[in-house]
Amino acid sequence: GNRTFTMIKPDAVANGHIGAILEKINGAGFRIVALKMTRLSTEKAGEFYAVHKERPFYGELVEFMSSGHIVAAILEKDNAVEDFRKLIGATNPANADAGTIRKLFAESLGRNAIHGSDSDENAAIEGSFFFSGLEQF
Ligand code: GTP
Ligand code: MG
Repeated sequence: GNRTFTMIKPDAVANGHIGAILEKINGAGFRIVALKMTRLSTEKAGEFYAVHKERPFYGELVEFMSSGHIVAAILEKDNAVEDFRKLIGATNPANADAGTIRKLFAESLGRNAIHGSDSDENAAIEGSFFFSGLEQF
């Protein structure tokens, strides 16, 4: 697949990293197809991360993701999902490689600056969670 979905999370937005993160994304060869700054209600954040509903950190995750503004985007590049997960680095920034977005900008495992879809199927579902069909051209 050639598209993925990302969100700049509330910690990175609050810390003033939107511009630097978008520069990293463009610099790595991704084209921004769709982009919006918005805020998730707890209900919408819970729906977005419903796959983690049974995990012990779910409540904390939903509370954090609805705690401030986020930036949602659809990105295009060959091998987008896999290459973007490499660009953002490990879920826990303590384990992320040097130069990755999470190593550079994340605060902690729970406040880890950015989301990247984990499959082509989820990239399409997550993109459509935020953007209408007409907004995805
Ligand atoms: P996303 O791109 O946000 O989906 O991260 P991921 O795919 O690297 O990780 P995963 O989908 O497994 O977990 C979703 C999010 O839950 C992570 O990005 C973390 O912020 C958070 N998370 C995962 N494990 C823990 C944990 O043990 N404690 C806390 N507080 N948060 C966690
Ligand atoms: Mg995930």
